[in-house]
Amino acid sequence: MRQFNEDTLTNEVVARLKKTKNPRLREIMTSLVKHVHAFAREVHLTEEEWFEGIKFLTAVGQKCDGKRQEFILLSDVLGLSMMVVALNHKTAPGATEATVLGPFFAHGAKEYGYGADLREGATMKGEDVWVSGRVLEAGKNGSPGKPIPNAVLDIWQAKADGIYDLQTEGEFELRGRVKTNAKGEYAFASYKPNFYSIPVDGPVGDMVRATTGNHMRPAHMHAIVSAPGFQQVITHVFVEGDPHLDGDAVYAVKNSLVGKYKKVNDAERAKKLGLSNPFLKLEWDFKLSPDKAGAKKARKKIAASDAVA
Ligand code: BEZ
Ligand code: FE
Repeated sequence: MRQFNEDTLTNEVVARLKKTKNPRLREIMTSLVKHVHAFAREVHLTEEEWFEGIKFLTAVGQKCDGKRQEFILLSDVLGLSMMVVALNHKTAPGATEATVLGPFFAHGAKEYGYGADLREGATMKGEDVWVSGRVLEAGKNGSPGKPIPNAVLDIWQAKADGIYDLQTEGEFELRGRVKTNAKGEYAFASYKPNFYSIPVDGPVGDMVRATTGNHMRPAHMHAIVSAPGFQQVITHVFVEGDPHLDGDAVYAVKNSLVGKYKKVNDAERAKKLGLSNPFLKLEWDFKLSPDKAGAKKARKKIAASDAVA
């Protein structure tokens, strides 16, 4: 086949894609081709414009390195990351809602037990906050269920100036893997998060300036909460009253994820916790959905090994 035009080209590309062996890859590539061709037709894309697009995507790739992930940032500001989260996290009612991971998660944070101090080694002070709560099963009908001991909360947040440790040369800061105790409780000291701008010194920043202008993220801490037998949740806790809650650059704010940082004036308690007085307190429970798919897989594995034995 040859001699294609704007009306016949899409069908030919789709026909050739039928040779793709992996059925899921075939489905994704076919849909992608149909949509990008339709996009080009709809806006009547000029050659100059497409070359600009290629230059932009090249710059996004060139901006990436071990610490900077400009493609994640692009996906985030286009709302694609939250779209994928929304499609894939139909959690049990009452379970903690999932959000984007963002570009600043790092593996290998220090492990802590109950009462951790995530301010350890911080190069910049903030307002002291005591964060405490439980990790619970998401119970039936949205009510909280049983506490989950030994759950792990991987916590990270920006420093007081809105910059993450990964954006600097220094060591890990304001990060930690905090385990729940036998009663499913956790607690740690940290600083109150502040709102900040996403990195705008790269091609994604140029794109945001030329389009929506929304480059701010409301104050938040990040958490990945996991426990065997439960679905891991990647989530945020936002700060009630933040001026950017309705204009988040990456569309991650959910009403259920906005927490109250309450002022506590109690010199004795502050001293006991190693905090300055007055300090802030955030009480926050994370609720996990049972991992039915994981449990099914595990049962299948056991059945298969029983069959072999
Ligand atoms: C963050 O919250 O760390 C983040 C998420 C998406 C884009 C930029 C930053
Ligand atoms: Fe963040």
